[in-house]
Amino acid sequence: MKKKNENTVNIRGWIYRTRSSGNIVFVIIRDATGILQATIKKGNLSDKDFEDAKKALVESSIELEGCVKEDKRAPGGYELQVTRFKVIQFAEPFPIVEDQSPEFLLDQRHLWIRSQKLTSVLKVRSTVVGAIHNFFRERGYFEFDAPILQPNQCEGGSTLFKVKYYDKITYLAQTWQLYAEAAVFSLEKIYNMGPTFRAEKSKTSRHLSEFWMAEMEAAWMDLHDVIEVAKEEVKFILNDVIKNNIYDLNILGQDIKKLKYIANSNFPNITYTKAIEILNEKENMQVEWGKDLRTIEENKLMNHFDTPVVITNYPKEIMAFYKPKDPKNPKTALCFDMIAPKGYGEIVGGSQRSDDIQYMKKRLKETGESIENYNWYFDLRKYGSVPHSGYGLGVERLVSWICNLENIKDAIPFPRTMLRFRP
Ligand code: 4AD
Ligand code: MG
Repeated sequence: MKKKNENTVNIRGWIYRTRSSGNIVFVIIRDATGILQATIKKGNLSDKDFEDAKKALVESSIELEGCVKEDKRAPGGYELQVTRFKVIQFAEPFPIVEDQSPEFLLDQRHLWIRSQKLTSVLKVRSTVVGAIHNFFRERGYFEFDAPILQPNQCEGGSTLFKVKYYDKITYLAQTWQLYAEAAVFSLEKIYNMGPTFRAEKSKTSRHLSEFWMAEMEAAWMDLHDVIEVAKEEVKFILNDVIKNNIYDLNILGQDIKKLKYIANSNFPNITYTKAIEILNEKENMQVEWGKDLRTIEENKLMNHFDTPVVITNYPKEIMAFYKPKDPKNPKTALCFDMIAPKGYGEIVGGSQRSDDIQYMKKRLKETGESIENYNWYFDLRKYGSVPHSGYGLGVERLVSWICNLENIKDAIPFPRTMLRFRP
């Protein structure tokens, strides 16, 4: 909106709603800042402008001139009394109307992205991404980029996306981690946010095939150091969203008081073994020690917490090859997951990194990996290795939780899942 003089303003945007009766047209105009009701009365503007206002359909792009008046009945409390109505482009009938199926809306994603809901999600997402950069930069971390095309797996071969690389085969990055581990021996504290890819076979409301991960890696830090960084990061992001996106959180139906409470709480740490105890004793489940926690177990566990929880020391055998055993409890690994409240699942996963080359080789061989592809990684343990640790935060998982979304697909503009890679 541009102010022309004390009384007159110019507004450019799109028609969000329109209805007319006789000599008056009510248009709700939207732009990136929100919506405003405009009242177009015959006689206040040229006849041609009035006829155009009557004719223009939803999503037509327009430029208006008029006076803003307070009006308690109007959405937002103000209305524009229009004196000029210029149509930039008359829209064709918009294919999206009320009550259409989620699949139809996903087919129309290029248009649905303008909806109030997705606009608010994308604004929150922008705050989240900005906050992640600020968090690490303010703390002296360097931004470090890893390749997206990688010859090796890190989080299990079964979810790799194969890519034809000239006449050879390579894979899309599952994580930035292995390359980050090469860089901590010079930069010490690094972070990154980038696209990651996983051929997830599960069709859940939490899994995407392409998602953004914000990762950190630091020399000299152990498991408990990085757990503290992760907690501080999540709270930093929450506070930034609370500061900048109250309007959007209201549109999304988020409980802002609850978010504020969480941003000021301590997130507890429990061990995997304790989590199993809670499930078996308080939830009447029969979870065997050694089994990974599935969605159902994570959700039941979260009945007992109202903030995110950090779970440490998962069984070593079900963990990725690079997670070291805990000397105090050798059946478990020095690793952690952070689980969000209310069924949003694992938002962060991380660990200390192993320096036991023989153990890592054995684990990789067991899963059929060619060790030659990892020799460069083992070199990192031979030339001045130091204890180091890191974690990855799933940007869409966090955005889903903060935005109170039912499905992770709405946390990213153009979702890719097992069943969808269009538009
Ligand atoms: O727990 P993950 O697999 O950890 C790693 O990839 C480590 N290499 C990170 C590190 O230590 N640098 O993934 C990290 C986070 C998960 O906690 C989850 O939030 C998110 O990434 N994530 C997904 N988000 C959406 N769709 C998927 N398919 C996801 N898989 C993992
Ligand atoms: Mg994980």
